[in-house]
Amino acid sequence: MSDFPALKPNGYRDTWCGQVLGDRVGSEVRVAGWVHRRRDHGGLVFIDLRDRTGIVQLVFNPDEAGGAFELGHDLRAEHVLSATGTVVQRSSETVNADLPTGEVELKVSAAELLADAETPPFQIEGFAGEAGEDARLRHRYLDLRREPMREALELRHRVTAAMREFLDGEGFLDIETPVLTRSTPEGARDFLVPSRLQHGSFYALPQSPQLFKQLLMVAGLERYYQVARCFRDEATRADRQAEFTQLDVEMSFVDVDDLIEVNERLLAHVFERVGGPRVQLPMERMPYDEAMDRFGTDRPDLRFGLELVDLGEALRETEFKVFRSVLEGGGAVRGLNAGRREMPRSELDGLISRAQELGAKGLVWAFREGEGWRSPTAKFLSGEELRVLNDRLGAEEGDLLLLVADERPVTDAVLGQMRIDLAERFDLIPEGEDRLVWIVDWPLMEWNAGERRWDALHHPFTAPAGEFDPDDPGAARALAYDVVWNGQELGGGSIRINHADTQQAVFAALGIDAEQAEARFGFLLEALRFGAPPHGGIAYGVDRIVQRLCGAETIRDVIAFPKTASGFDLLTGAPAPVDEMQLKELGVSLHERKLAGH
Ligand code: AMO
Ligand code: AMP
Repeated sequence: MSDFPALKPNGYRDTWCGQVLGDRVGSEVRVAGWVHRRRDHGGLVFIDLRDRTGIVQLVFNPDEAGGAFELGHDLRAEHVLSATGTVVQRSSETVNADLPTGEVELKVSAAELLADAETPPFQIEGFAGEAGEDARLRHRYLDLRREPMREALELRHRVTAAMREFLDGEGFLDIETPVLTRSTPEGARDFLVPSRLQHGSFYALPQSPQLFKQLLMVAGLERYYQVARCFRDEATRADRQAEFTQLDVEMSFVDVDDLIEVNERLLAHVFERVGGPRVQLPMERMPYDEAMDRFGTDRPDLRFGLELVDLGEALRETEFKVFRSVLEGGGAVRGLNAGRREMPRSELDGLISRAQELGAKGLVWAFREGEGWRSPTAKFLSGEELRVLNDRLGAEEGDLLLLVADERPVTDAVLGQMRIDLAERFDLIPEGEDRLVWIVDWPLMEWNAGERRWDALHHPFTAPAGEFDPDDPGAARALAYDVVWNGQELGGGSIRINHADTQQAVFAALGIDAEQAEARFGFLLEALRFGAPPHGGIAYGVDRIVQRLCGAETIRDVIAFPKTASGFDLLTGAPAPVDEMQLKELGVSLHERKLAGH
């Protein structure tokens, strides 16, 4: 932390702890911070004092006048202290090579206790793993005192600072958009806020600033960005929070290539600033269909093979009823070659259960043996079929083959995930390799069989490529793109619809009739009739980018005050019941009152 800006001296301190280095030997300094560790040695008391920049060792000597030693003797972990003393060189055998300030120590001449501290519920100096996450979240201000947490927040700051730096340089304006607004359909449930002045009416918290950034383009602002908070009332997961942060970007008079170009430079700039992966420009692009065919997912991890193969053609005439009935019903038989593996029967059974857990009805496993297979299923398949399957799968002697027959989305979901499981199980992901890819050329809509309707793959404002044919929504492609880093979606966006009639046609295809469209999005349709430029943009998940960069297991570890998996803020106790009086003012009455708990 020697590059930390120098302190302006005041009554508490004149030097950062992390800047008490060898060049200060002989000088008097005053430092302030928290007692990180305390050791008693033959009458001397050693205190590691911590501030944001690091740690320095203080020595309290009984010979010292002025009561400093007595104070030193009584200090406990996390007491807050200001101490003055002389910087002295440590003897060679006491130098601490692990500490930037480890060559010196501060011989304390005066000290003042600024605040007492109760014994923390977990150690601050230990590593994050040992304390339960509930305790860490409940006392987040203590958790954030720990080095890995502080470093994550510092990294997060550097990431958003680099984003701003790049976008400022490209003429983007940072513009805030409302948090109390109307529903924006990004596909999740809304958080609602009841209106006090208009009983029965509700604001929705934005799932993203999508519609406002489009209105800013209609307004002629041309280049917008915002580090924006988004709210989606959905189950929290390792890479999902109900409240999260996007870097949100929008531009006018651009096509897909323009957007990808500027965003590649943005990513390269940010990663360069914070020590992320080196980005090779232009970045790789892959059509959505290819990603689904080869990897079974729209966010493929390209760092390893184990690609999916379609086997339907080879099995068209098969007698094996499982495959035959699926193929006759319009489904697919897909497989992957996991390479030459040994696996005990129990583990192979484990693969079948895993496939079922992921939604498959079953799984065929096989090892190539000679021209055929060693597999319980081998007997159902002809020699010719086995030969062609081996050929299609590129199977060599001893290779483990996995096959799933089902509706195409199921085969993809199951094999796409098993591919990742196997890569982890067999350690196939090369250390230090990074693969960034744009997924392009998406379908505009997908059929929701459960609800019997078309759903937007991105959101309803995404522009179709070319004319939109309302009679064949499934055929429409979208001017959309996602950026994927090692199998995780970092961000996604699209060119938007900038004509009201197209927007209405797309709404109609999505089952939003004219009346509903007018009620929910009338303001957008109206704006599109007042000269909307061609425009498009993207949003990145800031939490996910930072999580990936620091290798944290969950995005909670890169958010200062996150919520638990069930959406609780253990620190403040939110959400919490409110007074009858408040409810009355809001015109809200409850069916039942529950006590807060989780
Ligand atoms: P989308 O819904 O794809 O697009 O969101 C953009 C990015 O935000 C991140 N993200 C999340 N991160 C943490 N927790 C969540 N619950 C969560 N949900 C999404 C992801 C994702 O890639 N308005 C469009 C963008 C646009 O079209 O410009 C949008 O919000 O990293
Ligand atoms: P069954 O005829 O159901 O006993 O299945 C015969 C074999 O095919 C078993 O090894 C099953 O695990 C496997 N199997 C069943 N359904 C599927 C499926 N949908 N995809 C792949 N394998 C399957």
